[in-house]
Amino acid sequence: MTAASPLLVLTGCDDRPGPGRRSTPSPRGGPVVYETGSEPGQLGPVLRSQRTRPTPYVRPLPVPAPARPIAVTATEDVYEVTARPGTVRILDDVDTPVWGYDGGFPGPLFESRRGRSMRVRLRNELPVPTVRHLHGGHTPQESDGYPLDYILPAGTPHGGGSHHLHPGGRVHHGEFEYVYPLDQRAGLLWYHDHRMDFSGPQVWQGLVGLHLHRDDEEEALGLPDGDHEIPLLVCDRSFGPDGQLIYPSLDPELATTPGVRTEFANGVLGDTVLVNGVHAPFHEVRQGSYRLRIAIASNARHYRIGVDRLPADGEPFTMIGTDGGLMSRPMLVRSFVLAPAERADVVVDLSGYPVGATVRLQNLSGGTGTTDLVEFRITGPDDRPAWRAPARLTEIERLDPADAVRTRSFFFSKVPTANGPTFQISHHLFDPDRVAADPRQGDIEIWEFTTDQQHPVHVHNCHFQVLDDDGPLAWKDVVSLGVNDRRRIITRFDSYRGRYLLHCHNLEHEDMGMMANYEIR
Ligand code: C2O
Ligand code: CU
Repeated sequence: MTAASPLLVLTGCDDRPGPGRRSTPSPRGGPVVYETGSEPGQLGPVLRSQRTRPTPYVRPLPVPAPARPIAVTATEDVYEVTARPGTVRILDDVDTPVWGYDGGFPGPLFESRRGRSMRVRLRNELPVPTVRHLHGGHTPQESDGYPLDYILPAGTPHGGGSHHLHPGGRVHHGEFEYVYPLDQRAGLLWYHDHRMDFSGPQVWQGLVGLHLHRDDEEEALGLPDGDHEIPLLVCDRSFGPDGQLIYPSLDPELATTPGVRTEFANGVLGDTVLVNGVHAPFHEVRQGSYRLRIAIASNARHYRIGVDRLPADGEPFTMIGTDGGLMSRPMLVRSFVLAPAERADVVVDLSGYPVGATVRLQNLSGGTGTTDLVEFRITGPDDRPAWRAPARLTEIERLDPADAVRTRSFFFSKVPTANGPTFQISHHLFDPDRVAADPRQGDIEIWEFTTDQQHPVHVHNCHFQVLDDDGPLAWKDVVSLGVNDRRRIITRFDSYRGRYLLHCHNLEHEDMGMMANYEIR
């Protein structure tokens, strides 16, 4: 991190940075001053922490055990979760208040298997409305977590206090039971808050977790499992003087005004990267093959993931899967790029390192505090044979552009207004009443995305293939676009009918308008 630019002071709902230092009390602590810093390679400023960063490599990597259902039937597992305030230990010397599922951050790890559905009864004990979205799920619309389908705070039966309620949502009071059929191929899904206008601050505050979905096909590959399979939720955060998470909301109450201070509008970048909620943890491993299930839960940060020292021979990673599960064939890679919301399924081979060595999984595009992810400490030879990738992992039907019934185009751009920047899709701010695309169920379509700047584009309730890409065939639900970029995706809309979203998964862009409805008819 290099020198800070001028101090920027939170001024309630006033979005213009005023002269001098003014500050207003935040509901989560005393007055907060937001400082910007810079990091090489990042397009925008980094939000600087005002507390010493945690000491790296002193805490073990937390590997979550799957959540336990409260009820199990022949076909279904039922879970109960409460979104509520809690505290977690991230910094060395002070606890950090969060909003978490069951008060934790990250939330519980869910595990499911194709052929069994899942229900999640979510109770809201937060001071704000919440919405749960299972990212990567093919989910009936009532349970998909449409941003207006609020669960209002328990105990506010008549309207959610001062929170601005848009018409057009199905509002639930205190709790809601989401139903996830999960009739889809195995993959790493994740879940997070999706409240209209306030997903950025609410995810930042802790409302996020992982979900491993399994099936027989994947199991037949004999991939590293048990303690040789490691889920890694990666995100960046910044800390205030009292150890609290800080976020430059225009409206610190998260009640009515969406968005962030202008200087952070391109996306809020934290200066401290966390893996499973810990900064630069260590993890003891053997000289074997480990399956890393990586999900990027950052609001806006992009990563290039690699290692600090290459093995004696070959590449460190065999990439086997992405957002929507296994790719058609494995691919040896030295490093790989992930945008917000993207996932990678990689097998790392540690047999080329000596016993006693340490290998750091790193963000090669990071700076101080945002580079080191996990330090693997190799404690001895492995008691299992190394995993050898087969030539083919799975059969993926290649969707043929000639079978597409139409092509639709979407332009993702930042649009300045008198009240500050907005983010739009094809010159529209998100409008719950507008349907931007209405594919018929079963149709194959090509969607062309173009951009002005970086936008990771996500489509709900669907997986797609990226055209003009020559890697292995893969099912994706996020496609990462760069500056003045153009990518085309192709998909068959064979999931549930209904109204769903496509949006930019930079959560600040999303909150400032960059979403659109699409409806499978
Ligand atoms: Cu990760 Cu609309 O969601
Ligand atoms: Cu964007």
